[in-house]
Amino acid sequence: MFSYAEEKKSSAEEMIHHHMKHSINDGRISLGLSPEMKQHQLSNMRSHLKAVQAITSFLAEEEFEKASEIAHSKLGLTEEMRKMCNMFNNEDFTALGLAFHESGDSLGQALKTKDTTKSLRALKTTLGYCVQCHATFRQ
Ligand code: HEC
Repeated sequence: MFSYAEEKKSSAEEMIHHHMKHSINDGRISLGLSPEMKQHQLSNMRSHLKAVQAITSFLAEEEFEKASEIAHSKLGLTEEMRKMCNMFNNEDFTALGLAFHESGDSLGQALKTKDTTKSLRALKTTLGYCVQCHATFRQ
């Protein structure tokens, strides 16, 4: 439990921090992105989420080829994604981003086998990267 004085001090520190970094400190590492990079990253992220939705629905309909195509083109390590991941000034973030996109290609390959269990395991691995990165980094 914090005493009142301690509580006051920590909330004052929080405010200073907020002022400096334009975001509350929730323990995640800030990437320090420019406003343009922020917009770009978020729109990219929304497209990742959309891809996961499409893959899940194709998988449910056993349309493996279509699901595989989305996995490779939207989540896989395309030249565009490789370039994007290398634009950040944080090696760990870049490494995680590249590993994530590699998992997107592995997912594409798993879907090609038309094995639902194998495909779901690969999807779980890819989603693990989403969760891990979001827990570690913020804009
Ligand atoms: C290598 C890191 C990384 C990976 C992998 C990653 N993200 Fe993100 N994502 C981020 C960061 C950083 C943000 C911004 C979070 C913040 O600042 O609070 C973000 C934000 C988002 C947002 C919010 C978009 C908005 O408009 O507000 C969505 C949705 C999202 N990610 C979906 C996903 C999904 C789905 C996956 C996996 C298929 C994924 N992300 C994988 C780093 C990552």
